[in-house]
Amino acid sequence: MPFTFDTIDRSDTHAIKHELYRNSPVLPMWVADMDLASPPCVQEALASRAAHPVYGYSHPWPSLNNAVVSWCQQQYQWAIDPSWVVWLPGVVPSFNLVIDAFARGGRVLVQEPNYPPLRKAAELRGATAVKLPVTTAPRAGWDWSVLERELAHPDCHLMILCNPMNPQGLVLSTTELERLAAVCREHRVLLCSDEIHCDLILEPGLSHRPASSLPDIAEHSVTLMAASKTFNVAGLGCSFAVIPNGDLRQQLQRSGQDLMPHPNFMGMLATEAAFSEGYDWHVALLAHLKNNRDRVASVISELSGLHYTPAPATFLAWIESDLAPAEAMNHFTKAGIMPSDGKDFGDPRSVRLNFGTGRETLDQALHQLQTYWRQNRPSSS
Ligand SMILES: Cc1ncc(COP(=O)(O)O)c(C=O)c1O
Repeated sequence: MPFTFDTIDRSDTHAIKHELYRNSPVLPMWVADMDLASPPCVQEALASRAAHPVYGYSHPWPSLNNAVVSWCQQQYQWAIDPSWVVWLPGVVPSFNLVIDAFARGGRVLVQEPNYPPLRKAAELRGATAVKLPVTTAPRAGWDWSVLERELAHPDCHLMILCNPMNPQGLVLSTTELERLAAVCREHRVLLCSDEIHCDLILEPGLSHRPASSLPDIAEHSVTLMAASKTFNVAGLGCSFAVIPNGDLRQQLQRSGQDLMPHPNFMGMLATEAAFSEGYDWHVALLAHLKNNRDRVASVISELSGLHYTPAPATFLAWIESDLAPAEAMNHFTKAGIMPSDGKDFGDPRSVRLNFGTGRETLDQALHQLQTYWRQNRPSSS
């Protein structure tokens, strides 16, 4: 069945992305959800459950866990046991819970720039965030000597990895992950990997490797995943952790007892439908997003002062600049585009543009940018 990926009007849905700028003349391209319809299999599963008039508490069920097992096998050739899956109401509460359970109030290593709640989590939970700078150019990645030094610190018990990376859309190779796993293991640092964007690999032939699938670190790791970004169900409050080690699983569950809400049952239903029936839609979505990404890259390459190397994953373009701090954001806004402000991710010269939208909306946005740049010629600081 051919799928279409057109912009859906969200104006009466209280969508955060649109609501904040309801009265401003800007195209909202910030919050990381898509303007696209969820796959028909998800819509049907939700509509059918919504027709039942009781919406009480629900437990996860066996076929739900089996859908995760099959998805991990099919997408990552990763054989997991259904008992390793812990259902949670979102990835943000999950990594906060992991910090509560395992950081021991010590140092938590996190990449920088990074998704704002990941930057803030350690301090909010009474621990200390230690930044691991990640560059996109001239080489993508981090300085391994900094990583090794920080993981060797006696107060460091936890690293929270973001892979694929938000905002840069980079994906760690298996070799890099193996190296990271070896250092974590050597220094007995727990690796918690936020992989919420892992099903959004846009580069054919490139694959994502879940952290807990690495034998070196499996027993000392937590992998956080969700159907939410890929199948556009982020408002349904549902994610899961895959934790091969039973003791760690129990420790995490104890930390969340009487505190963490149940995951939303509609979110669990959507996850099951997406993972068991959404394969073809997913393939088509990746092709659509890759086209969008390449279109963004081609237009940005013409705009003075801006730099964007098409990234292998996510529907988010991390556009760096050599303009003065805040200027890129300023110019995008004046051009009638509202990206996420790079300063919230740790880099005030950059912006993050969400291209998870229909082709017409993206073309409109890129046309506005081209016109603005032609008329105003922003220059480097
Ligand atoms: C890296 C990362 N983690 C977590 C989240 C949000 O997770 P949730 O909505 O499940 O709490 C996002 C959303 O953009 C994200 O980019």
